Amino acid sequence: MLKEIYQRQSIRKYKTKPVEQEKIEELLKAAMQAPTARNNQTWRFLVITNRRQLDEMTELQPYTGMMKTAPCAILVMGDKEASADEGYLYLDGAAAIENILIEAVHQGLGTCWCGIWPKTERVEGFQKKFSLPAEYIPIGVVAVGYADEEKPIQNRFDVTKIQYVK
Ligand SMILES: Cc1cc2nc3c(=O)[nH]c(=O)nc-3n(C[C@H](O)[C@H](O)[C@H](O)COP(=O)(O)O)c2cc1C
Repeated sequence: MLKEIYQRQSIRKYKTKPVEQEKIEELLKAAMQAPTARNNQTWRFLVITNRRQLDEMTELQPYTGMMKTAPCAILVMGDKEASADEGYLYLDGAAAIENILIEAVHQGLGTCWCGIWPKTERVEGFQKKFSLPAEYIPIGVVAVGYADEEKPIQNRFDVTKIQYVK
């Protein structure tokens, strides 16, 4: 297995060290290599490094406490106007987020995916706070930084969840 897939885990405590701009760009490049329905490339990204905005994120999404230590977050949005079928918007966004998480491991960074969509109050909260255009739907926000915690890797492989059709 690709070692980055196996090593990825949600990091909820970060060092104060900022994330280098080149590394953030690598994460965004990885995101934009993700597949999208009809190749519509519906994703849009907002890189947040403002300390106050990171500290206040729990007001928009209660389970983003790790942002108080994270030096950076990437808000992944979907542009409704770029999508032929709105349902695909969220799948496109999720695939991009996963690419960010895996590339981050490769860059020596930790991440935590925090859900926004489909919770309406979170979607509206992020839209308002960051003055987003109405057609930009926040899908998830990823904390990014250098990990300040170590956790054992879990092996979740479970043969009982698989069936082979013969
Ligand atoms: C759609 C989605 C939403 C998530 N939202 C949050 C969140 O709001 N806060 C959080 O701390 N973790 C969040 N997570 C991370 C999960 O809790 C985590 O992936 C899961 O517990 C497995 O742990 P691991 O990522 O370390 O393997 C989210 C993950 C996904 C895929």
